[in-house]
Amino acid sequence: MKTVTARAHTNIALIKYWGKKDPELILPYTSSVSLTLADFYTDTTVHFEPQLKADQFTLDGISQPTGKISAFLDLVRQQAGLSASARVESHNHVPTAAGLASSASAFAALALAASRAAGLALSARDLSRLARRGSGSASRSIFGGLALWQRGDDDATSFATALPKPALPLAMIVVLVDAGPKPVGSRALMANTVATSPYYPAWVSTNEKAAQAMVAALAADDFATVGHLTEQSSMQMHATILAADPAFTYWQPETLTAWSLVRQLREQGVPAYATMDAGPNVKILTLAPYVAQIKAALAPTFGQRLLTTGPGPAARVLTEVP
Ligand code: PMV
Repeated sequence: MKTVTARAHTNIALIKYWGKKDPELILPYTSSVSLTLADFYTDTTVHFEPQLKADQFTLDGISQPTGKISAFLDLVRQQAGLSASARVESHNHVPTAAGLASSASAFAALALAASRAAGLALSARDLSRLARRGSGSASRSIFGGLALWQRGDDDATSFATALPKPALPLAMIVVLVDAGPKPVGSRALMANTVATSPYYPAWVSTNEKAAQAMVAALAADDFATVGHLTEQSSMQMHATILAADPAFTYWQPETLTAWSLVRQLREQGVPAYATMDAGPNVKILTLAPYVAQIKAALAPTFGQRLLTTGPGPAARVLTEVP
């Protein structure tokens, strides 16, 4: 069997995914739109070995529990008609201090490496469907640049596709508020938001319309609308989380500090919009010519805790050894 190494990049949702209609199949309540990032990625090597007693998984050289990985590999084994266990080695090139979600790049890289190593040649659509089963956001990391994950109705119809490359020179600045691990994982909090937040039904109808509006704004290269929709989707997601029982927020005081600096910049005519995920860090969506000015405005507060990136490539196979 082949040994395959694949690379997939992280993505940040401009229109968020928050909440599963079907937790087993990971079917979302709403569609989402994301930007795959150039500088943060995961490399994963997979080799199925009939003589192995059980799957083995290392992350950056350190042995890890295999529960989630084995459940995911089972999907690949099923499709390929294979029973062998696998050796999986991953390396995260997401700066450990970045506090960026790496589950998207992790499961996209694993979907590509494992399916190829098992002898499958999946289409981008089927890879996206497979990656989705590991982590919803991973469905989007199969693609470079902008991706749309249409919520779909079932396993066959819920997958991401690449959106056309915009003329806009999109850039993203990551503001590192806190590098530590998340206090609450997104999986459990998503489920609790769906179950208890009275705002959740409103989030679903608003966010689904926003996803379709985002596709149109991107196609029109209308950055003011792209940025506005980005910030609204994030704020509304965090509002549903605040309204859950028990109430919760990922935000820290510096999250608000960064957001208010972004608002001030915007009042001065700088196109800058904030988006936050399942953690306190702030990502600023802007256009490349404004990056230096935004970083200069944030540097007195955040110093070196500012990382700049832009659109990154699709998931790809790096090496395939027979
Ligand atoms: O794919 P998950 O389970 O890590 O969830 C991702 C959730 C957010 O990052 C908050 C939003 C998104 O669409 O990526």
